[in-house]
Amino acid sequence: MNNSPTDHVATNDHYVVIGNPIAHSKSPSIHTAFAAQTAQQITYQHLLAPLDGFAASLQAFRAGGGRGANVTVPFKLEAYALATDLTPRAAAAGAVNTLRFEVDHIIGDNTDGIGLVADIVQNAGVPMRGKRVLLLGAGGAARGAVLPLLEQQPELLVIANRTLSKAQDLQKIARQFSPASQVEAVTFEALSGLFDIIINATSASLNDDVPPLQPGLFEQCKLAYDMMYGAQATAFLRYADQYGVACRDGLGMLVEQAAEAFFLWRGVRPQTATVLANLRAELCASTAV
Ligand code: ATR
Repeated sequence: MNNSPTDHVATNDHYVVIGNPIAHSKSPSIHTAFAAQTAQQITYQHLLAPLDGFAASLQAFRAGGGRGANVTVPFKLEAYALATDLTPRAAAAGAVNTLRFEVDHIIGDNTDGIGLVADIVQNAGVPMRGKRVLLLGAGGAARGAVLPLLEQQPELLVIANRTLSKAQDLQKIARQFSPASQVEAVTFEALSGLFDIIINATSASLNDDVPPLQPGLFEQCKLAYDMMYGAQATAFLRYADQYGVACRDGLGMLVEQAAEAFFLWRGVRPQTATVLANLRAELCASTAV
């Protein structure tokens, strides 16, 4: 046999999720399921890049025929810098989670926020238009969500954060990209009023912690959403559940952001419900005794 290294790419386009660490990522199984469902000829794998080797790893993948990549921790800012063209939502997010390689361009997108919105509006069936939305946190996860949230035209978006200056920075970005929107920035202590939707974009759940929230905030809340997910409910969702609020974690956001990336690459929109149900079942089974 005299195979050249590129023989196997004759029918398949190659994609990766690049990060460090990366072995835990569910993106390969999600995209493989999307490809099977839509009859797209692709492969999708994990790519572990050294912490100081993101650009080199990505360029090597591209030079070998790669067509696009999802980017995760800790490389979303480097991906933003590497892209030659940014979608408005990536520019607003200041970070890129999806790259599409073209002949002499690298398109950078951020599908996290639109994934969040799709999971709330379509999957959970909770509309945002004309509603009061509270976003907890002002780090990277919150920033990625702001423009897609405002595009839903809520009556008000309040950004609450432990460090007020970071919430105010996010408010400025929101006003820059969506000047007509009503956006406020406050500390948790100064938070008041009632909200239809409360979204936790802090990383507090990683430490099984909850931002300091007054129970009254949940009084008319239709949905408490945590961008994090796990086999068990996060601390934030356990807290919200005490007040009888409908709760949802970020597993659907993960699947929906992947669907949007798939659409950017392939021009085909996959169905997400079965993929999400299968992932949920796997997650629950992973902790079953
Ligand atoms: P990510 O990319 O996950 O958003 P990040 O950019 O480090 O991570 O941001 C973490 C966010 O969670 C910040 O808003 C942080 O608040 P500060 O800006 O005040 O640091 C917030 N956060 C982390 N732990 C928290 C906790 N225990 N209670 C409240 N907020 C917390």
